[in-house]
Amino acid sequence: MRPITALPVAAVASATAGLAYASLYERTRWTLRRFEVPVLAPGEPPLRVLHLSDLHMTAGQRSKQEWVAGLADLRPHLVVDTGDNLAGMDAVPATLRALDPLLDLPGVFVTASNDYYAPRPKNPLKYFRREHTRVHGDELPWRDLRDGLTRRGWLDLTNATGELTVDGRRVVFAGVDDSHLRLDRYDRVAGAADPTADLRVGLAHSPEPRVLDRFAADGHDLLLCGHTHGGQLRVPFYGALVTNCGIDRDRVRWLHRWAEASPANPRGTWLHVSAGLGTSPYAPVRFACPPEATLLTLTARPG
Ligand SMILES: [Fe+2]
Repeated sequence: MRPITALPVAAVASATAGLAYASLYERTRWTLRRFEVPVLAPGEPPLRVLHLSDLHMTAGQRSKQEWVAGLADLRPHLVVDTGDNLAGMDAVPATLRALDPLLDLPGVFVTASNDYYAPRPKNPLKYFRREHTRVHGDELPWRDLRDGLTRRGWLDLTNATGELTVDGRRVVFAGVDDSHLRLDRYDRVAGAADPTADLRVGLAHSPEPRVLDRFAADGHDLLLCGHTHGGQLRVPFYGALVTNCGIDRDRVRWLHRWAEASPANPRGTWLHVSAGLGTSPYAPVRFACPPEATLLTLTARPG
């Protein structure tokens, strides 16, 4: 009888240990990821871009708030926030406090489902179905967040375009609303990205290929997205089980080439998908996928 009972006990013990690790340790193992992206004109000095996404902040998450505030020490030239900032009705003041040192810098953002709606308990198995019915929680005070960011000079690129001078360089932007909720209205920002600018950047919360392809066709150099949480629960040596959107598993996080150079897109397009800094309060686990922000160092393309 002993081998028959020992196996389930061992399986339960290892599952419990894994869950404890994922919820108690890895979920708060704040990590800074770094990539170099050769997107600037030959001879240009580097630009540092801090990409934040999916904070899913609650008022009590002090260690996350302190870590985010400390990212200002990296002295980025530009900060990009690709949405899903909030996870509670009272989270806006804490989120703005965490971002406060970064709000003195040039910044841009888009908003998304977890800015608009409070999290709700969900059956995690539904993420394995490609199409599922979404049931929204109560509306969050996302306008207070938006106003807090724009008051300090950050550009709201939610279905909008904009332009900033960043370290003396002219950067043009286009962004869409949450494409996972099909709130994106690309036609409002469509058109060839200004070829006379020093850099052309596209923002979307969710990396939906139908949107990324349009940004690339319009000649954007760099696309920044979040939403996937990098898969959130990754299997070592296999990767993400699901991406929760249209992107493929291989590009569920980090830096990838999205489009090669073509006559319509003479420089080609890079894509960075942030694995994000948070989780829903109802699924507070990350495994083999630490919460992270990314410092992108934009460098000159080879001559
Ligand atoms: Fe998210």
